[in-house]
Amino acid sequence: MTNILDDEQRILASCVSLTQQIDRGSVVLSSRLAAAFLNVPRHPFVPVFYRRDGERFIPWSSTDGAPEAWLAAVYADDSLITEVDDVHAEDAPSQGLTGIPTSSSTAPSLMADMLDALDVNEGDEVYEAGTGTGYNAAILSFLAGDKHVTTVDRSETLTAKAQPRLAATGFDPHVIHGDGARDFPADATYDRIIATASVRRIPPEWLTRLRPGGIMVVPIKGTLAGGMVARLTKSPDGTATGHILHTPAAFMPLRSGSQTSAQTPVVPDGPSREATLSARALDDWTFSFFAQLHMPSGVVRTYGQYDEGLHVTTLYDFTDGSTTRIDDAHGGPPTVTSTGPRDLWQPIEAAHQLWLRLNRPRREWFTIEATPTEQVVRYTAPDGRVHRWQL
Ligand SMILES: C[S@@+](CC[C@H](N)C(=O)[O-])C[C@H]1O[C@@H](n2cnc3c(N)ncnc32)[C@H](O)[C@@H]1O
Repeated sequence: MTNILDDEQRILASCVSLTQQIDRGSVVLSSRLAAAFLNVPRHPFVPVFYRRDGERFIPWSSTDGAPEAWLAAVYADDSLITEVDDVHAEDAPSQGLTGIPTSSSTAPSLMADMLDALDVNEGDEVYEAGTGTGYNAAILSFLAGDKHVTTVDRSETLTAKAQPRLAATGFDPHVIHGDGARDFPADATYDRIIATASVRRIPPEWLTRLRPGGIMVVPIKGTLAGGMVARLTKSPDGTATGHILHTPAAFMPLRSGSQTSAQTPVVPDGPSREATLSARALDDWTFSFFAQLHMPSGVVRTYGQYDEGLHVTTLYDFTDGSTTRIDDAHGGPPTVTSTGPRDLWQPIEAAHQLWLRLNRPRREWFTIEATPTEQVVRYTAPDGRVHRWQL
């Protein structure tokens, strides 16, 4: 039986189908971006990825049976998880595993939206933080020319797999194993910087390495779901200014040496108050990105569904130990229980009131300004009042 991947007509048809899926969605592709998605196949970068089976992630390759379904999944407008808790799908046991995804190939329409915002021209020097599978680096290479692209991933397994796959697809960008927040070739500066992992604040090095007039596209996300993507242009004075894209994006976090991951402590039962807002409000991404602006950067959120419809959300600020639990019991009003100096739900309740008063402002109406010392998001209301938040 011939391998489905050797059928060139079929692969071409798959690339056409993917490009049409992106174009039919929220992204209107420029002819150059369409050419990139038509000419750069996705399957060489994801020979094995994980499919979900309940809580488990099961590795899936084209040779595991159902090659047609596998090919359709590769050329669907979905993200493909390739690493869970640092275990690559190619190294996973056939029965799969459970854990937290640590690498994936981003959904192509989100890639396209970010690449459109990045506005890459041939010859632009481009830096990508988060090589992952290498697929986005291949598209960047198509757009800028591979000799102008540098891509970095913290996982050596990933960079070691991505490099030969890029070469087999005809591209030879500079692939580096390192921390994308700070590992750069000496003295290198860039016309374009793109991150495909999220940060809470823009790493100062990105602001320094971007050339005046250069563009940076960066997913900004805290512990809440509704991440945002910022597009900034650097002025000659070193300030980068821009806006938030309309697209929501929940990228996995850029794991940098400087970041700590805190375990949320259990809140003991104690005096509680009635909440004015259900914690399920955070499931609405049009609100949760706004709520994030009101949360100190050290706050961690965990949540889960428990027995009999009880939904529990816990917020924890490891800087002062404040911990707040919001219990959404089925039918009853939500309750808030806190330990430590602050009730962490109160600022989110206030943020929700403000969000409603501002008539649910869309994320693309917010602007952003960043210097190495200060990063500020602003919203100018129709009455001229300017609201500002420090990242
Ligand atoms: C969504 S994936 C990237 C997708 C990739 N651009 C592609 O086309 O497949 C996010 C990647 O960021 C990487 N990452 C996380 N922290 C990093 C860091 N500090 N520096 C560089 N890469 C990092 C992860 O290992 C992961 O591969």
